[in-house]
Amino acid sequence: MNIETLSTKKIDEKKQGNILEINSLEEGNKKLYIESYGCQMNFSDSEIIASILSKENYSTTKDINEADLVFVNTCSIREKAEQTVRKRLELYNSIKRTTNPSMVVGVLGCMAERLKEKFIEEEKLVDLVVGPDAYRDLPNLIKQVKDGRKAVNVFLSKEETYADIKPVRLSGNGITAFVSITRGCDNMCTFCVVPFTRGRERSRDPESIIKECEQLFSQGYKEVTLLGQNVDSYLWYGGGLKKDFKNIPEKHKKEAINFSKLLERVAKINRKLRIRFSTSNPQDMTDDVIASMKRYPNICNYIHLPLQSGSSRILKLMNRGYNREEYKSLIDRIKKEIPDCAISMDMISGFCTETDSDHQDTLDLMKYVRYDYGYMFKYSERPNTTAEKKYKDDVPEEKKQERLVEIINLQQTHSLENNKERIGKTYEVLIEGISKKSNSHFFGRTTHNCVAVFEKKNAKIGDYVNVKVHDCTAGTLKAKII
Ligand code: SAH
Ligand code: F3S
Repeated sequence: MNIETLSTKKIDEKKQGNILEINSLEEGNKKLYIESYGCQMNFSDSEIIASILSKENYSTTKDINEADLVFVNTCSIREKAEQTVRKRLELYNSIKRTTNPSMVVGVLGCMAERLKEKFIEEEKLVDLVVGPDAYRDLPNLIKQVKDGRKAVNVFLSKEETYADIKPVRLSGNGITAFVSITRGCDNMCTFCVVPFTRGRERSRDPESIIKECEQLFSQGYKEVTLLGQNVDSYLWYGGGLKKDFKNIPEKHKKEAINFSKLLERVAKINRKLRIRFSTSNPQDMTDDVIASMKRYPNICNYIHLPLQSGSSRILKLMNRGYNREEYKSLIDRIKKEIPDCAISMDMISGFCTETDSDHQDTLDLMKYVRYDYGYMFKYSERPNTTAEKKYKDDVPEEKKQERLVEIINLQQTHSLENNKERIGKTYEVLIEGISKKSNSHFFGRTTHNCVAVFEKKNAKIGDYVNVKVHDCTAGTLKAKII
């Protein structure tokens, strides 16, 4: 296993709980087995899928051998993510041949959208190919398969937000939940396949978001993460696309709800409900979002702010919409308003034409920000993106790897140093579960998204407790309840 695999696996596990999520739900007489890969949005989508199918009398199972339906919710972001799915399909194939010949196999999500009918040609075992905007059609598509035909729906919508669907909470701890607020992405970063697989950006009706968060809180949930590819560009003015906003009457413009207004509305639900959000795009993050974070203590002091590269030349080639100086100035504004704000990043090593000096710019900017955490990747060329069409993937694999290792090492140093500065301090932690390493310990997170591990004492999962940090690693704070 090379470093990319290792780091990505670690990263994904941290980002979405588990790389391979097998979800379970009781009742219903037909069985659905669903695995999700990739971003948090995919995990959230699987909960929508389970909800749609629960109305068709499907309940989920962890045992693939008893499943009527076997779904894999896929990711296309890097080549490796797609290879993982192909490997899973090989396994499904052998299960179908041996222990469960009647199972129906469906591929959902970004790979389904990218490969469309081709998937069925390439993988004979696949019966269903369904893109991210077509999940409402699943009952019809399943019927089509039962009638003996393969089924494909990869229609991308400009409106679908699944706003009215109450997700079935599958993988949860009952304490933290994802709530999706936008779908799709209009940013067209030149390396990224998401705009092609998830379509145009659209915002979800705020009333349905508030209702979902209120219900979660009344069920005992204590933290919601508002999800979107680009949360800062959230905009609701009655359901229209963002690009048409400029044409609506002024009086309606004032009533529109942007991301900072949405944040405040969710924050007001209850001060014991924590709010996180992901992902912020530096080009869209506004000062009023920072102001809302400052105003409401239950909006966590943590921003995931992907950088991708520290070189202005590369950022321009990536079409990121900001340069090095603008990014630094955003960091300065955040730190000025919220000095205690934790910041994490995404970084790509070895993008087309990247030189040693561009790479040095990345390391240099990392030293400026001193991120608390990082999700770091080697550039992986994706079919049909602008980068694939216009630029040459000309940084040799060994160079990409070498630079990635340097980025990871520097990040490790910063994570450790930042955590060391937390020793001796006291933080409020929301308890999420029992520590993986010790049954007598809980784990939870601080507002900064730092994981803390501490002895249980009399506390219980879902409690807010104050803990004092006495030791740390780069990834964990060791603490005691005070
Ligand atoms: N919406 C988010 C990113 C979504 S994809 C944003 O605003 O940036 C998650 C991360 O995967 C990206 O931030 C990027 O670092 C990485 N990524 C996307 N496409 C990639 C590619 N072709 N090769 C390597 N990493 C990629
Ligand atoms: Fe991808 Fe850029 Fe959107 S990284 S998801 S195109 S913000």
